[in-house]
Amino acid sequence: MCGIIGAVAQRDIADILLKGLCCLEYRGYDSAGLLVVNSQGQVSRLRRVGKVRNLINAAEDTILLGETGIAHTRWATHGQPEEINAHPHISTNISVVHNGIIENYELLRAHLKKQGYSFVSETDTEVIAHLVNWEQKKGGTLLEVVQRVLPFLRGTYGMVILDSYFPDRLVAARSGSPLVIGRGIGENFIVSDPIALFSVSRCFIYLEEGDVAQISCNNIIITDQHQNIVQRNEIESYLEPYSVDKGIYNHYMQKEIYEQPAVITNTLISRCKNGCVYFEELDDYANDLLEKVQHIKIVACGTSYHSGMVSRYWWESLAHISCDIEIASEFRYRKSVVLENSLFITLSQSGETADTLAALRLSKKMGYLGSLSICNVLFSSLVRESDLALMTNAGVEIGVASTKSFTSQLVLLLLLVAKISGLKNKTSLVEKKIVNSLQELPSCIEKVLLQNKLLSKLAEEFSDKNHVLFIGRGEQYPIAMEGALKLKEISYTHAEAYAAGELKHGPLALIDGNMPVIILAPNNTLLEKLKSNIEEIRARDGLLYVFTDSESGFMNNDQTRIILLPHIEKILAPIVYIVPLQLLSYYVAIIKGTDLDKPRNLAKSVTVE
Ligand code: F6R
Repeated sequence: MCGIIGAVAQRDIADILLKGLCCLEYRGYDSAGLLVVNSQGQVSRLRRVGKVRNLINAAEDTILLGETGIAHTRWATHGQPEEINAHPHISTNISVVHNGIIENYELLRAHLKKQGYSFVSETDTEVIAHLVNWEQKKGGTLLEVVQRVLPFLRGTYGMVILDSYFPDRLVAARSGSPLVIGRGIGENFIVSDPIALFSVSRCFIYLEEGDVAQISCNNIIITDQHQNIVQRNEIESYLEPYSVDKGIYNHYMQKEIYEQPAVITNTLISRCKNGCVYFEELDDYANDLLEKVQHIKIVACGTSYHSGMVSRYWWESLAHISCDIEIASEFRYRKSVVLENSLFITLSQSGETADTLAALRLSKKMGYLGSLSICNVLFSSLVRESDLALMTNAGVEIGVASTKSFTSQLVLLLLLVAKISGLKNKTSLVEKKIVNSLQELPSCIEKVLLQNKLLSKLAEEFSDKNHVLFIGRGEQYPIAMEGALKLKEISYTHAEAYAAGELKHGPLALIDGNMPVIILAPNNTLLEKLKSNIEEIRARDGLLYVFTDSESGFMNNDQTRIILLPHIEKILAPIVYIVPLQLLSYYVAIIKGTDLDKPRNLAKSVTVE
């Protein structure tokens, strides 16, 4: 979490830093700050609590002159979201912005206090500023000093350091948190995400783990973890600036929900031909590896974890390959057994989630057949560090609550199930069946989106509710979990999901006339079982909201609302049924007046564990 940006130019840089921070705000929005220095070494710093907008407003009344600068938008880890804790942090001539956590900061703090340094913030970052200042007294260039300081730090960092005595350069270091250099004309930048640099650069260099870089107006030096000078590939950006606009929509989340049919259509056009799946990213070596797969291990967090959970049903019922799925923060800290010929799959929108990345790194020492990531961000750490990668190509997702990245992960997972089934059994019809049935998915989701008025009306019934239960069976159970997560994170309503058969083992005690229960009930082989669960809730006066299709035989009454969705093949139902839940959460959040694109306490890219 936290977004950082630095620039060395031959023009005043404050506006570019502020614009960049707006694009990085999805990474954290508790407070924001910037610091610029001019060629005479005069420093101006401005920090504000809250969103970047507060900093921009304050900047309008402040003179911020300087051609070199650093800026930061914060997701608080150590210390409250107060101005004193906002970055950049300063130690005399040294200023620092930092994304990550310095785990041994208390030890370092105690040591630095003994050297006479005093601390003004509660952050872990301030120790970096003082440590660089202290080490600098032993001599050397800023680059050399930073290289000497890094071995003292335990934890994760993407950081940029400015020395006001040498305002012609910035030094950056990466370990665990992403950093990308943007090359300009006579100016250079360094940033957490290239999205923040589209107005000034299209040429990007991704730093690797352990890299330290020095940028000046006309020069870039990168050293690797052994302090050898290295060349890293330069990549031309493929993204258009308009892809980060809200367009005709009121919120990014709304836009991203409505983009789902188009995103899925694009995936199908580029990946399916004549009933077969084509992944141009996978070469013959990759196909040989996939053919050997006998077990799938999926590791992910949050919404991505839910898409993995849905896919488990597909792996086992369609491809007959055993699959287990685990939350990354659990997987990375336990000893687990690797089954023979297991493929390790990570799922992530951002490709930078710290726990998922750590799980991938751990898996490499464990004897898996190989690793494959399904990700939405090209060149992200997860993509670069996996043996194989499939891109969801959903376009930039800005709303903190994942929507289109979830459905596109599901589509890609289903295509992967089809592909591996085809590779393992050339006469199997599974691949063809999946590819053919997917063709109706975009139009089916279009039909669901037409229910927006009904769902916005329904949302009124949830606006005064403090608790909501979601239930489903089979593939709809993870959809219930994802629906509950959406409602929680953007409307701040407590929501819980259960496999419907579990109600009687405890949660039924919660049901009374004030408890809404959202039930995912497509017409499938589990419907009769689900109907019995529904009767158990009805008998205890629960308020029933049944998402179903016309063939399921439910009727509206005082206690029951029926939300009719198009009938769709069983395997596609989870991808369709999440869409009305996304919309419902969106409308509940609108009524509650939350900042739904940037819900409190959250950030889009979770780069700390
Ligand atoms: C919820 C949400 C989060 C993310 C989770 C993992 O709407 O977006 O739960 O799914 O933080 O992020 P990625 O997918 O980037 O690894």
